[in-house]
Amino acid sequence: MEKILVIGCSGQIGSELTLELRKIYGNTNVIATDIRPANAEVSGSGPFEILDVMDTAKLQLILEHERITHVYHLAAILSGNAEKRPLASWDINMRSLMNVLELGRELKLKKIFWPSSIAVFGPTTPRYNTPQFTVMEPNTVYGISKLAGERWIEYYYNKYGVDVRSLRYPGLISYKTEAGGGTTDYAVEIFYAAIRKKKYECFLGPESDLPMMFMSDAIKATIDLMEADASKLSLRSSYNVAGICFNPRQLADEIKKYIPDFEITYKPDFRQAIADSWPACIDDSVAKKDWGLVYNYDLPKMAEVMIREIRKKLL
Ligand code: NAD
Ligand code: SER
Repeated sequence: MEKILVIGCSGQIGSELTLELRKIYGNTNVIATDIRPANAEVSGSGPFEILDVMDTAKLQLILEHERITHVYHLAAILSGNAEKRPLASWDINMRSLMNVLELGRELKLKKIFWPSSIAVFGPTTPRYNTPQFTVMEPNTVYGISKLAGERWIEYYYNKYGVDVRSLRYPGLISYKTEAGGGTTDYAVEIFYAAIRKKKYECFLGPESDLPMMFMSDAIKATIDLMEADASKLSLRSSYNVAGICFNPRQLADEIKKYIPDFEITYKPDFRQAIADSWPACIDDSVAKKDWGLVYNYDLPKMAEVMIREIRKKLL
């Protein structure tokens, strides 16, 4: 039977993934942890503990005491925040992963999920239809840490047989928890600003194409990958996931269908250079072929749900 530990349950992904895992594996079998408190839905539906993933001794204690078999390690510093504190972010992103991998090896955990990102690519990577295997020269602290992480998870699989699985998530769009300091956060902020004030000043320029994905598709892809038969996985670094490709101008046009007097203005900041170094849309044919990656949300469907749910929250 699976006994699951989620590290980073209070963030944009963890707050939704924890609930979905509890639906599948049972509330008491999913232990949620974070360095900060969880929201009421997470702390009210099953076990929650404060855990700093850098505290190896406490992490080991929980893994052993709770007889954990599966870990979802989501704690990280995202791209925008990482550029403000490069060395501290490198330390958190890398040392936390090494802690989880080492304990995974020692305690013979059955499976580990660790997310990578489109940030593993860089300005020398082909921007359109970015292949699974291509030039990878990231120029952000976050991207460098994700690429190094991908190399380490593959190494732990090949050398020690640790079954780590990973997706290169695009920018994730959700309405439950606000985004955590990344470059793709505009695509979440814009909905709140449109509903609250009917205007938004975007920190990326109008034509900044980026791959994005609605959260429920990301959660489904994560669980499908974790449940896939190991024999189907042809790679042990991280799978490209494409989602939906659009830019701020196209997203604003979609929002105007619901809020016709919505106005967007553009004031690019340091995150523009990060966005420009990332793919515009990527090729995820390997994930589709290996374990059947599918999506349920395109841009209009995603925008419709975001507007409806954020209106319910705010109005
Ligand atoms: P987030 O910032 O919303 O959440 C991260 C959580 O980790 C936060 O709740 C934070 O409190 C926690 N955390 C930070 N340091 C910790 C520590 N030392 N110990 C324990 N917990 C700690 O991030 P997210 O968007 O939920 O992302 C989760 C993972 O997915 C990250 O690895 C991120 O790089 C990756 N990812 C996210 C996106 C996206 O668009 N959200 C895209 C690509 C990859
Ligand atoms: N959404 C993430 C970020 O912008 C991509 O990994 O940092």
